[in-house]
This record gives sequence, C-alpha cells and structure tokens, in this order.
Amino acid sequence: MLIAQITDLHIQHGGKHAERIQAQAHLAACVHTLNALDPRPDLVAITGDLTEHGRPDEYETLKRLLEGLDIPFVMIPGNHDHPQTLRDCFPEHQYLQSDSPFVQYVLEDWPLRIIGLDTTIPRSGQGRLCPDRLAWLAETLAQAPDRPTLLIMHHPPFDTGIREMDKLGLIEGRDAFVQVIEPYRNIERILCGHLHRTIICRVGNTLASTCPGTAHQIALDLRHEATLSFNFEPPGYQLHWQGRHGLVSHHALIGEFPGPYPF
Ligand SMILES: [Fe+2]
Ligand SMILES: [Fe+2]
Repeated sequence: MLIAQITDLHIQHGGKHAERIQAQAHLAACVHTLNALDPRPDLVAITGDLTEHGRPDEYETLKRLLEGLDIPFVMIPGNHDHPQTLRDCFPEHQYLQSDSPFVQYVLEDWPLRIIGLDTTIPRSGQGRLCPDRLAWLAETLAQAPDRPTLLIMHHPPFDTGIREMDKLGLIEGRDAFVQVIEPYRNIERILCGHLHRTIICRVGNTLASTCPGTAHQIALDLRHEATLSFNFEPPGYQLHWQGRHGLVSHHALIGEFPGPYPF
C-alpha cells in the first residue's frame, strides 16, 4: 500500500496573510504533483487545518480543488477547522458522518487499518484527547490488535522544541494517549500535521511524525525566545510505502527542480 500524506492546506478567502500565502494556488500545485506520481498512491491522507477559518465558502473551495485529485482521499480536522461544517460540505465522505461531536473513524478497507483521531478543541489552537475520545481509541485498537494500523491526527503527541507551537500542542490527554497505545506492537506510525514541517519522534512503541504544509512552512527556530513565524521553504508531502520490513516514509517536495540526470 502506498499512502501520500498532505497537511495544513489552510484554504482561505481573505485574512491577514492570505495574499502572501496563496493557499489555493499551492494546493492546486500539490494536486498536480500527486496526480503525476507513478506508481500512484492508493490513498491521500490529509491531516487537518484544511481551511483557515472553518467557513463554508472555504470548504467549498477546498472541495473544488480536491475534486481535481485522481486519488481517493480521507481527511481529519485540525484546530483551524470546523468539524460540523466539514461534515456538511463532504456528505459523501461517509466516514466523517456520525452523531459524535468528534470526527473519529476507522477505515477497514485497506491493508493498513486507518484510525482517524480528532484532537481539536473548539476555538482553540491547542490539542486535546479527552477521556471519551481515548476510550473510543482504546476500544477500536482492541478490536484488531494484530492488524497493521496507522493513526492519523492533527496535533502531534510530542513536544517539538519549537516552543510557541508546543504551547499549541497536544497538552491535555497526551500521557493518557501514550498509555493507551503503548501495549500495541501493530501501530506502524502516527501521522500528524500542525507543525508545517517534517519532525519525527518515538512515542510509545511506534514513531510519530509531522509533515510539511502544502503552502507555508513554520520556521525552524529552537531558541527559547523564538518568535513564531512562517516562511516559504518548499512545500512538500510524504509518501508512506508499506514494504517488506514495515512502513517506509519518504519526504518529498512540491516544485520544479533541475534533473533528473541518470547516473
Ligand atoms: Fe496549520
Ligand atoms: Fe494546526
């Protein structure tokens, strides 16, 4: 199985940095890049911050752009999203639909079992996994302890050293989350967004990682007093390939670069 991960699309109409970020044009370029991949991924996982303000018009634009994607995709909300508006705009995405206040789901149709977790708190940038969400995760993991499993969630379950982002991290429920996943040896990876760059950390008995944004990146600045800022390092995506020895992750860039030159 081959999974492409993209994240933090931040589709927006207006707003402080909309002109500079050009989120829609960047997503169009990303869709073009993913469609050209050979072999083509089986699935695209989009790990949150789909829109900037969670507004219906932003989700409509998102939908129009993702209609150009020739690959099936699944989404989870990030802190910039509005879960119900997301559901309403994508009624055909059955896995998003439920009576729960949380957009959590399990997909059983793939060689990798995919569990989507909702780490959002309404009107907050921080992440949370409350007892209800963790109880659902514990129950869901217990149903298939031997199937290779992928968790996807917006807020990563680790501190990154980018301090202003860590203040907006998975503050509540992080330790309890680790307790839930620690007994399992079948969780191949925890794929996250929110950080707009590639960062990897061991969590429990697996690896958790974040992915570049499709538009703007968060500046790598580990100084204690660093001001949170974004830049235009090349946008990217990740390709997660299920090989003989487990899930192998490739970091890839979106853009035009010289080459390839055969050796
Ligand atoms: Fe983001
Ligand atoms: Fe975020």
